[in-house]
Amino acid sequence: MNENVTLKTKKAAGNGPTEEQVLSVHHWTKDLFSFKTTRPDGFRFRSGEFIMLGLQVDGKPLMRAYSVASPNWDEELEFFSIKVPDGPLTSRLQNIVPGDTIMLGRKPVGTLVLDALKPGKNLYLLSTGTGFAPFASIVRDPETYEKFERVIVTHTCREIAELGYSKQTIEELRNNEFLGEMVDGKLFYFDSVTREAHDRVGRITTLIENGGLFEAVGLEPFNPEVDRGMICGSTAMLQDTKALLEKAGLTEGSNASPAEFVIEKAFVT
Ligand code: A2P
Repeated sequence: MNENVTLKTKKAAGNGPTEEQVLSVHHWTKDLFSFKTTRPDGFRFRSGEFIMLGLQVDGKPLMRAYSVASPNWDEELEFFSIKVPDGPLTSRLQNIVPGDTIMLGRKPVGTLVLDALKPGKNLYLLSTGTGFAPFASIVRDPETYEKFERVIVTHTCREIAELGYSKQTIEELRNNEFLGEMVDGKLFYFDSVTREAHDRVGRITTLIENGGLFEAVGLEPFNPEVDRGMICGSTAMLQDTKALLEKAGLTEGSNASPAEFVIEKAFVT
């Protein structure tokens, strides 16, 4: 048994974080990267939940909340991160390479889960920036398509290059030999940018208000009878988007009290 394996087994027996190995890293822009790690034996989570993740710094774990971007059936874990200039964790984490070790918390939690929503027909997953991460998990979970007839995932960034991770995730999902058929005709990917010329320009709030979103996916404006939502982005984005859902008559839910929509701040900003 090598030293790493001994260490991992020891840690897993306690309450502290486990040590996981970095398997791959992809830098999308100078500010965004995604990475995959090993998944501890027995690590269970609901698609959309987040977990504490970090590095050993000066002999102590430095941890931040990260949404798990991989679906719960995947044997690897995936994360999507911003690189915060001078950020204590991300300034270090952005340098990880395959074979490195990261620290992973043991208790996944969060409100962006299917259980926190009442049954409905259309599921809107509205995100900006790294807020796409939990939805990368949810759109790859077969349960999502058992519960909803249509899944509309939106991702808005300042520039086109920042859409790279979501674009590739959706493309791979559509081409997946097992899941491709399941999402066919049910999954709609709606991207937009706000600071560059593109097919679709504008904040998601603007595109909800002017009907551009609904027109593009061929659906009626929000209706609390059939529509459910999840929102993940900056504090300002959450506030403004939530106000639009509430104006349409949808109410905010939680794990304890499911309703028509749920929100969570995109972490590490
Ligand atoms: P904008 O370029 O008009 O500010 P950020 O990196 O600042 O979090 O922004 C990510 C994306 O979210 C950008 O496209 C940004 O648009 C958009 N955004 C920022 N604030 C809001 C808000 N209050 N409501 C909706 N979208 C927002």
